[in-house]
Amino acid sequence: MCGIIAHVGDRRALDPVVSGLEKLEYRGYDSAGLAVQNGHGLDVWKCSGEVSELKETVDDVETSANVGIGHTRWSTHGPPTDRNAHPHTDSEGRVAVVHNGIVENYDELRESLRDRGHVFTSDTDTEVIPHLVAAYLDEGYDPRAAVEASVDELEGSYAIAAVVEDEEAVYAARQGSPLVMGIDDDRYFLASDVPAFLDHTAEVCYLEDGDFAAVRPDDVTIENGDGERVERDVERVDWQPEETGKGQYEHFMLKEIFSQPTSLKKTIEGRIDSGAEPALEDIDASTLADVERVRLVGSGTSYHAALFGAALLNQSGVSARAIRASEYDVNTGDPEPNTLFVAVTQSGETADTLGALRRAKRNGIDTIAVTNVVQSTAARIAETPLYIRAGPEIGVAATKTFSSQAVMLTLLSQVVADAADGASTVDDVERLMTDLERLPESVEEVLASSDAEAVATHYLGKDAFFFIGRGIGCSVAKEGALKFKEITYEHAEGFASGELKHGPLALVTEDTPIVAVCTRSGERTVKNAMEAQTRGAPIVAVAPAGHEAVSEADAHLSVPDVHPVCRSLLANVQLQLLSYHCAATLGRAIDKPRNLAKSVTVE
Ligand code: F6R
Repeated sequence: MCGIIAHVGDRRALDPVVSGLEKLEYRGYDSAGLAVQNGHGLDVWKCSGEVSELKETVDDVETSANVGIGHTRWSTHGPPTDRNAHPHTDSEGRVAVVHNGIVENYDELRESLRDRGHVFTSDTDTEVIPHLVAAYLDEGYDPRAAVEASVDELEGSYAIAAVVEDEEAVYAARQGSPLVMGIDDDRYFLASDVPAFLDHTAEVCYLEDGDFAAVRPDDVTIENGDGERVERDVERVDWQPEETGKGQYEHFMLKEIFSQPTSLKKTIEGRIDSGAEPALEDIDASTLADVERVRLVGSGTSYHAALFGAALLNQSGVSARAIRASEYDVNTGDPEPNTLFVAVTQSGETADTLGALRRAKRNGIDTIAVTNVVQSTAARIAETPLYIRAGPEIGVAATKTFSSQAVMLTLLSQVVADAADGASTVDDVERLMTDLERLPESVEEVLASSDAEAVATHYLGKDAFFFIGRGIGCSVAKEGALKFKEITYEHAEGFASGELKHGPLALVTEDTPIVAVCTRSGERTVKNAMEAQTRGAPIVAVAPAGHEAVSEADAHLSVPDVHPVCRSLLANVQLQLLSYHCAATLGRAIDKPRNLAKSVTVE
């Protein structure tokens, strides 16, 4: 949801700004732009479309400018046109600003600036910022004070980087949107996310909400929201630069699907000790004492992981409910005491999920964030961050992070259930732990032998795809349908299998394949799938060989015969591949599906 990057140092800024934008493109790809401070003024280039178009424009630019800012946009205010692309400037081009977030009071600020003679040329909320800075410069403020005073007038959420003519500096502010500084030997970066500068440095410093930073080639000063000089910790991230590239794969999504054996290994490392209770080192015993119920909140794919976790908790004898983060405030009363709140969010920055998490904190209940991004906003708000350690995920469609979230929630469910001592109906927990530990190898098996490409080619062109499953399998079916519609742009829906007969069956024809997630033997999903088959629908069974669904089905995507919970996780890998191959055959923009962005920082 918009990515920003800035470079200040002893080297040319243009190249790291452009490559930073390429790495941030998962946050939005409606338009891109950059500005450099050329020693006596600002040069700005921007255009609608992807970063590659901006890159073509600036490829031959000869500039030695060492200070620059850049932006890749996911539109909120105003369509994705050239004039709405960032950076935005004041009328005389003295100030350029890139911004991720929303300026809530932009209407009143713009009216007040218009009254003072300012002329606006875009539809964006951001454009008020350079005009405000220019107004303060006109009043005699020095550049730093002008940017700081302007930031003080903003309401809403923002991560901002601003450059001012004649100033060898970037001014940056953070409130509610992510902003991290990268520290190299002879230069600094500021960015929405670490991959933007990971090729250059892994030393980072996360700015806090309310921080204002003045970054010069040889010096950084940071003030907190109270205007006090502060030092922020510098740490080293353990992501590797190659993790942010496509490697030999055609798409990030395919790379990320195939990296699941590795990412899952990292998720479970040190957390499972064959057959014994899982150990979540990060959880304090007091967080688990007296838990009577669990609320799991997430959006999109993370909501499906929450559904997976809730189903498992309920089976483990702990009352649990998954709630869509965007519905949390309307559908949920204040939680009762002894409720554990679990925010599930890959990025840790999803506005809907953060809203729910903040409300849970205000209600004084214990909070956990299951997240991939160290020091993300969710990780900082929650009392306990549980890191899934999946490594950077660049493809907009979440794949490896869903698998790691679901595994993490499986471990959490067993730890909570153990503390609550409820009556579990999960079969053979010892086998579950052993098979979870071996999950990376099982995923490898699926990846090496999947027939998803053949099934995709065979069924492509049908009217709609219905994904069904029961219990944990239902969360996988819903996730399968979301992935399918997201990257193929074909119609897909995910249902609890038993619901098919209560309405959706009316849509079923020979042109609506039913993808049935059958991970337990004797389950009703087979019967429900056959009810659709009787009406002409072809059935794709996602099941272990020998499962009763396989003999009834028209096609089969096989999963190893492991614990049913692990089968569901493996079924999800098959569904990821099915979506991928359909989208690839259709020539879709798999890593950057239309209208979407990876990190949705608006409500
Ligand atoms: C779908 C997808 C989205 C995200 C959702 C929440 O493939 O990626 O549905 O899952 O926007 O994002 P996080 O997990 O960052 O909170």
